[in-house]
Parts: sequence; structure tokens; C-alpha cells
Amino acid sequence: MIRIENLSKSFGSSLVWENVNMTIEEGETIAIIGKSGSGKSVLMKHMNALLVPDEGQVYVKDRNIFDLPYAELRRIRQSFGILFQGGALFDSITAFENVAFPLQYFSSLSESEIRDRAMECLEQVNLADIGSKSTAELSGGMKKRVGLARAIVLEPECLLYDEPTSGLDPQTSDEINDLIIRMADELEITSVVISHDMHSVLKVADRAAFIDKQKLSWFGTIDEMKNADHEDLVRFIRASEYQISKTGVES
Ligand SMILES: Nc1ncnc2c1ncn2[C@@H]1O[C@H](COP(=O)(O)OP(=O)(O)O)[C@@H](O)[C@H]1O
Ligand SMILES: [Mg+2]
Repeated sequence: MIRIENLSKSFGSSLVWENVNMTIEEGETIAIIGKSGSGKSVLMKHMNALLVPDEGQVYVKDRNIFDLPYAELRRIRQSFGILFQGGALFDSITAFENVAFPLQYFSSLSESEIRDRAMECLEQVNLADIGSKSTAELSGGMKKRVGLARAIVLEPECLLYDEPTSGLDPQTSDEINDLIIRMADELEITSVVISHDMHSVLKVADRAAFIDKQKLSWFGTIDEMKNADHEDLVRFIRASEYQISKTGVES
């Protein structure tokens, strides 16, 4: 469904990564792992043309997204739901209004249809009863779930999650992991999950892509990852496990 070919990106004279090749199949869940600053979020932002590469192409359903008329790019973008790292919710309005917002902008539904659809999405993330609360009143885990409800409200074919469990305690992280799995299963969605939480990666992903040393350093299934003898990958996994055992919370 998403095919990345020979992708390279720099900001000014600073290379993020080069020559990235990766195919994400329909319905699978890919984890993008790597150190902070390795370019995970930058890679994700190329998947729906929020960023433009220096070289290379991204194909979504065999369409080159950097070579589309704007109206078509807009349609492709609408087929992606994004859970941004900070949540990116509007704090001054209610949880319900945050979820209804994309429908008001991008759909032609009536007010009552919008209400029903937004409520349905809040129910899907187990938040049926909090719609009227202002976003500022919600816990970190609840904010992530509201963000997820908003991300699915336009019925995307692909969900992009940027560090969905960062800053959450282990139990709340696991609730989010369960939701990621449930979204993939129930909505038959393709998922891309950026994470440096190996517990989460092992739980939710079918395959993992390791970005390191300015390239896609390793790409394979979770079973292959467990047995990999790739030195940098093994070191990264060990460091992540050590961090979890030391603090109980991913940092
Ligand atoms: N819009 C931007 N302008 C300039 N530099 C950026 C921009 N976005 C990201 N970068 C830089 O690109 C590198 C990779 O960033 P990012 O993808 O956010 O890393 P991470 O793997 O932590 O998600 C970092 O050095 C970051 O400072
Ligand atoms: Mg990031």
C-alpha cells in the first residue's frame, strides 16, 4: 500500500537519512524504531507528503504522492489518520468537539450525523462518557485516546502513530497498545507506529524498521528481530529494555 523508494532527506547541510527503501503492505502494522533524532518522525511525515524529500518517491496505492494534483493529494491525505506525538488537541474545547472537528471541516454530514459519528469514535476508544469534559481536564492517557478517536473519525485506511505511549505509565501504555491492535483488527487498517518502547513494538507490530546511522539499518519481522545478530539493533533493544526495567516508564 505504501512504497518508499530511494528516499533521502536533509535539512540544510544536515542529512537525516538517505536511500531508504521500504514497502508497507495493506493491513499490516509496522514499527519504526531508532534513537531520538534519528529521523523517525521525518520519515512518517513523508508518507502523506507533509514533508517533501530531496530524492526518491513515495507511492500510496501505486500513486506517486509527490506528483499529484492538489485535490488528489488532499484525498490521499484524508485516507491517513494521524496521532501526533503531543496529541495536538485543542485545549480550549471539549473532547467531543475535538473529535467532531475533522467532520465539520472535511465531511458533508449533518450536525446530528456528526454527533453520532463522533460519539461512535469516542466509544471505540472506551471514552463514551467523557465527551463533555474539556481537554485540559483529561489525563495523558485519555488525551491520547481522544487523539486516536479524532484520527479515526474520517475512516482512514492508514493510521500513523507518533510515539503513542511516550510519557505514559506502563498500564496506560498497555491500554493504548491494546487499542492500536484493536484498530488494526476491527477497522482492517494499515498502521505505522513510531516507538522507542520495545515492549510496545513487540506487542503491536508485525514488522519493524530500525533507523540508525542515517539509513534504514534493518527491516524485518518481529520474530526475525528477536533473533537478529545485527550489532546496532541488538544494542538499541538492550538499551531500551534496560531503560524500562530501571524506571518502569519509558522516557
Ligand atoms: N522541520 C524541520 N526543520 C529542520 N530540521 C528538522 C525538522 N524536522 C526535523 N528536523 C531534524 O531532523 C532530525 C530528525 O528529526 P525527527 O524525525 O523528529 O527525529 P525522531 O527520530 O526523534 O522522530 C533531527 O535532527 C531534527 O532536528
Ligand atoms: Mg519523533
